[in-house]
Amino acid sequence: MRVGVLTGGGDCPGLNAVIRAVVRKGVQEYGYEFAGFKDGWRGPLEGATVPLDIPAVRGILPRGGTILGSSRTNPLKVENGIRRIKENLAKQEVDALIAIGGEDTLGVAARLSGEYGVSCVGVPKTIDNDLSATDYTFGFDTAVNIATEAIDRLHTTAESHMRVLVVEVMGRHAGWIALHSGLAGGANVILIPEQRFDVDQVCSWVTSRFKSSYAPIVVVAEGAMPKDGDMVLKDQSQDSFGHVRLSGVGEWLAKEVERRTGKEARTTVLGHVQRGGTPSAFDRWLATRFGLHAIEAVRDGAYGSMVALRGTDVVRVPLAEATAKLKTVAPELYAEVGVFFG
Ligand code: F6P
Repeated sequence: MRVGVLTGGGDCPGLNAVIRAVVRKGVQEYGYEFAGFKDGWRGPLEGATVPLDIPAVRGILPRGGTILGSSRTNPLKVENGIRRIKENLAKQEVDALIAIGGEDTLGVAARLSGEYGVSCVGVPKTIDNDLSATDYTFGFDTAVNIATEAIDRLHTTAESHMRVLVVEVMGRHAGWIALHSGLAGGANVILIPEQRFDVDQVCSWVTSRFKSSYAPIVVVAEGAMPKDGDMVLKDQSQDSFGHVRLSGVGEWLAKEVERRTGKEARTTVLGHVQRGGTPSAFDRWLATRFGLHAIEAVRDGAYGSMVALRGTDVVRVPLAEATAKLKTVAPELYAEVGVFFG
């Protein structure tokens, strides 16, 4: 048995831990061989591979990024993309493919296995934690820890200058990173994409925080939107899956708050720092378990499935189900943290 492995979409801490677990168990327990496909779906599309064996995965557990490289290549948008993938898999004598990715990468895996007979198993990853089929995706915990540390640091500088500090975090159309890091970092306002915000309300929380002689920290998710108006974007460029590049709301909000309250405001956009560096212990644990279960799914011939965390169990769910629905923050959960605003 020869198994192909690829990592697609935005990178995130823990990808290498999955690759290591897949290869270690696959070689040691099942005697499998592996082919590492380069840069997400570009690898199978162009037949770009790297050797993947036990020496190749030594020492990679704590390393961020992915030894296989990643990209947002969408083979469904490339002429003869599916045919080329099938030909390259055959050329490499690959019997099964493990695709490690988010909504887009796994969406392609779901179609390849559902409609085109390619034997795929999926592993969910994204710092956004927005896949409904799994309780958590690895990468999220690390991103939350990085954002929380940044918020902790911003408290002291905000207070030295008695300024408003707006922190823009990632998460696309889900507010998980903002909610968790905002709560953990003691933010005074948390704004998420799931609920439009009222700038006047934000200003009144900011003003009341200054009354208690502390400076406010406003955590805003990159996908958050004001009540009156559209999503604030720096540019309109799209990736090959048709997603616009989010970011810009933090800058915009700081200017509005400064204009309306007369208080000096600054913005910190955390950006890709949230995706870089070593994975947290939780992400190493989750990614490793996902890897072990993914290669077990290959051994069982459970193609068209994805591994997922339910409570503390790793289970298999249909790939199609995995990508069907975005997991967003429920209004009740968001309401819980409202007591800390202002
Ligand atoms: O999906 C992960 C993510 O980091 C989002 O939070 C963010 O909007 C996007 O990827 C950024 O993508 P890129 O790496 O293409 O700039």
